[in-house]
Amino acid sequence: MVELDNLILRPFKKDDYLDVFDYLHKPEVHCFESMKLETVRDAKKELKRRVKSSEINFAIVLKSENKVIGEISATDHELQERNTLGLAWMLNPKYQGHGYMFEAALGFIDYLFKETNLHRLYAYTEDYNKVSQHLLEKLGMRNEGLFKDFVSFIDDENGNPIYENTYQYAVLRDEWLEKHK
Ligand SMILES: CC(C)(COP(=O)(O)OP(=O)(O)OC[C@H]1O[C@@H](n2cnc3c(N)ncnc32)[C@H](O)[C@@H]1OP(=O)(O)O)[C@@H](O)C(=O)NCCC(=O)NCCS
Repeated sequence: MVELDNLILRPFKKDDYLDVFDYLHKPEVHCFESMKLETVRDAKKELKRRVKSSEINFAIVLKSENKVIGEISATDHELQERNTLGLAWMLNPKYQGHGYMFEAALGFIDYLFKETNLHRLYAYTEDYNKVSQHLLEKLGMRNEGLFKDFVSFIDDENGNPIYENTYQYAVLRDEWLEKHK
């Protein structure tokens, strides 16, 4: 658990399903389409899975309302390199624009580098996701390049994949600890 000024980051609990359904019923960006929860029943099932999972996926709790307003995670699903994790985040649209994800991410990344053996943290974000790019840069993550037509999350009306351009950002343990002693 990580306690911050306005937020608490903690593992998910089974009872969080309604809060999670609230923001995952209609994911705002294509990259979370596969996480979409069609029904409250699906949300209950997903939360049961999350409680058992060993992945680092923290609920972001707004202290003033004791409500889960989003999530932030670090996973090794794609690369499987040693001590390397990929960062992902999402916030309920009703709570965006208050600086909450910056606060959450700063606390989360600090936790990862100081409390685990993480060596490299990377993040992918599509070229149109200007808010995420701004946040990643504000957090001190380096832009490592643009991959053209890197992923396809959805199809067009004829069933053909729509490819998207993806930026990769990263920060190394030494780089982070130099700035956040
Ligand atoms: C990305 C997301 C998590 C940001 O959460 P948030 O709590 O609203 O973010 P914050 O309020 O901490 O910071 C937003 C920053 O983006 C800036 N911003 C807003 N719109 C912007 C734009 N169009 N271009 C550039 N910067 C922008 C804000 O000014 C703010 O920066 P500042 O604090 O330096 O002024 C949230 O928008 C979200 O959940 N989006 C949908 C899911 C998503 O895109 N996930 C990432 C997939 S790669």
